[in-house]
Amino acid sequence: MLYTEVMPIEIIPAIIAKNFKELKEKIEIVEPYVRWVQLDIMDGNFVPNFTWNKPKELKYYDPGVFLEAHLMISEPEKYAEQWIDAGIKRIIFHIEATSDPHAIIQTCRNKKIDVGVAINPETDIEQIAPIDELVDMVLVLGVTPGFGGQKFMLSVISKIKALRKRNPHLTIGVDGGMNPGTAKKVAEAGADLIVAGSYIFTRADIEKAILRLKKTTKK
Ligand code: DX5
Repeated sequence: MLYTEVMPIEIIPAIIAKNFKELKEKIEIVEPYVRWVQLDIMDGNFVPNFTWNKPKELKYYDPGVFLEAHLMISEPEKYAEQWIDAGIKRIIFHIEATSDPHAIIQTCRNKKIDVGVAINPETDIEQIAPIDELVDMVLVLGVTPGFGGQKFMLSVISKIKALRKRNPHLTIGVDGGMNPGTAKKVAEAGADLIVAGSYIFTRADIEKAILRLKKTTKK
């Protein structure tokens, strides 16, 4: 295996915020230790929870990290552009939430930003074939989306393995229930990105928590 291919696993903190003040505070806590931060955006429709949801408030905020928006919202094709115009560098939409995935992908391509597709635990990887050839990454949910602090569903591991087998060069992220133990399992199954919320934000030593996730997922 060439060193160029042995990329370290990327740890991406996920933030579920009620308002912009909370969002900024949480970004500033993790900013020194990561490259990407995931904003969990929930509309109370696609998922039974509602979060901060005002992209315009990001307009004049320039954090020292790339921001990605995990859109847990219905009809994301209607809203993706607002998030991109507000400075989001990767849009992740749910395949279950849209009837027009190509529209979102095209919007992201036109705006020259990354696009990912997310699948819920019960969604078969067949539902994103061949979309996964058109996006920059696939986010596999390890929990039913809507809340942090849930238990990882071990049944998802076989799905990660199947996805990796089908697409050797695809970037695969896993989100939901990530801690050093579950992150190690999904890394071994083929994941490249670990999205973690409660494991990171409930620790007294944030830097140590992120380093521990990196260490236990070292390939
Ligand atoms: C779906 C959300 C959560 C969050 C991370 O509910 O996308 O997965 O990002 O949650 P935990 O706290 O499980 O890392």
